[in-house]
Amino acid sequence: MNAGATETVTQHLDAEALRREFPLLAQPPEGARTIYLDSAASSQKPEAVLAAMDRYYREDYANVHRGVYKLAERSTEAYEQARRSVARFFGVDDEGQVIFVRNTTEAINLVALSWGGANLGPGDVILTSIMEHHSNLVPWQLACERTGARLEFVGIDANGCLRMEELAEHLAEGYVKLVALAHVSNMLGTVNPVDEIIRQAHEAGALVLIDGAQAAPHMPLNLPELGADFYACSAHKMCGPMGAGMLYGRRELLEAMPPYMGGGEMIRIVELRHSTWADIPQKFEAGTPSVADAVGFGAACDFLSSVSMAAIHEHEWRLTAYAYAQLQELPGITIYGPGPEARGGVISFNIGRVHPHDMATVLDGEHIAVRAGHHCTQPLHAALDLVASVRASFYLYNDVTDVDRLLGALERVYEIFDQETAV
Ligand SMILES: Cc1ncc(COP(=O)(O)O)c(C=O)c1O
Repeated sequence: MNAGATETVTQHLDAEALRREFPLLAQPPEGARTIYLDSAASSQKPEAVLAAMDRYYREDYANVHRGVYKLAERSTEAYEQARRSVARFFGVDDEGQVIFVRNTTEAINLVALSWGGANLGPGDVILTSIMEHHSNLVPWQLACERTGARLEFVGIDANGCLRMEELAEHLAEGYVKLVALAHVSNMLGTVNPVDEIIRQAHEAGALVLIDGAQAAPHMPLNLPELGADFYACSAHKMCGPMGAGMLYGRRELLEAMPPYMGGGEMIRIVELRHSTWADIPQKFEAGTPSVADAVGFGAACDFLSSVSMAAIHEHEWRLTAYAYAQLQELPGITIYGPGPEARGGVISFNIGRVHPHDMATVLDGEHIAVRAGHHCTQPLHAALDLVASVRASFYLYNDVTDVDRLLGALERVYEIFDQETAV
């Protein structure tokens, strides 16, 4: 939680009641409820989000920003109302700073192409870490190839926490133009001290982009108070639809940046050989936008706020602490990342030499949905000397009974795989 997020816990979460608001979770497949422990990959959708998108298509659908007729005005209003909901969710008063994109990946690519193209050159450094999702690594590799800038990395300690002394060393060299870091690691679960990182980076004259894909769904955030120059997230991980995401940026940076894509919607005046640009956010939203997805994103933000982000954060923290303590007791298990005090609702692990895909398949047989693989963090897995891991991740609709079901299902893993393999 960032220091500026002032929301306090006003209610405790009733995960069982909340589950009833998620049609997919309320429907038992083959007589057994799916225990969905893969929200870090994508969350399920509540009725409120599905209804808002359905209503938009049934009642307000037309192209936005162009028509003068009432229906087009209603559609535009639905789109801009969604932007206001997303802005409010993140404590942003100036909604021009909220750019709708498809997902976190697109938000980071937008900055790497637009800001990177205009501001990076030989000798400049993009500082990131070895724990990043490929989405916060590959765009910077490409930007470096295009501009002659270079990438440097902050490593992690034995607990899976950033080596802050390495961050300070890189910043002290004076070449870092931008620090690009995950708020919460999607593999280790580590909650990075972004307030402190932003403070140090700004002192050194560097900008900061935070990949908030695993933070925005789970904790109260006030982005202007946090002070990041850019913040990226995906709606589909926060109860919203696939196809919508946000890039938040500081107004003066976004205004100075060149467009990311050209076409309709993002222009002011077009001549045959020259064009001028619309104001932000439209400057970065070329073409017909995913209006229904934006409407769903806005509805998801309103839904999460109605539950209370502080309550969600606390609920997940308790659940993760419980799961961590129970899993730790299992023979032959290795859990990656820090203890519950520094961790979000993500636990990645291996058991003995059992292949993570085998484990996930056995768990699926028990109706437990977890992820197995490298979780788009190949360099991190390589640094940990791993090919893959199993990841269980929690959200507002999970509770202790889900963790107990996971633990029960893991007993099957020990039964199926012989002692030597499993332990
Ligand atoms: C930390 C992190 N960053 C970026 C992404 C990419 O998100 P998307 O695929 O929605 O662009 C993910 C997705 O898992 C993630 O966990």
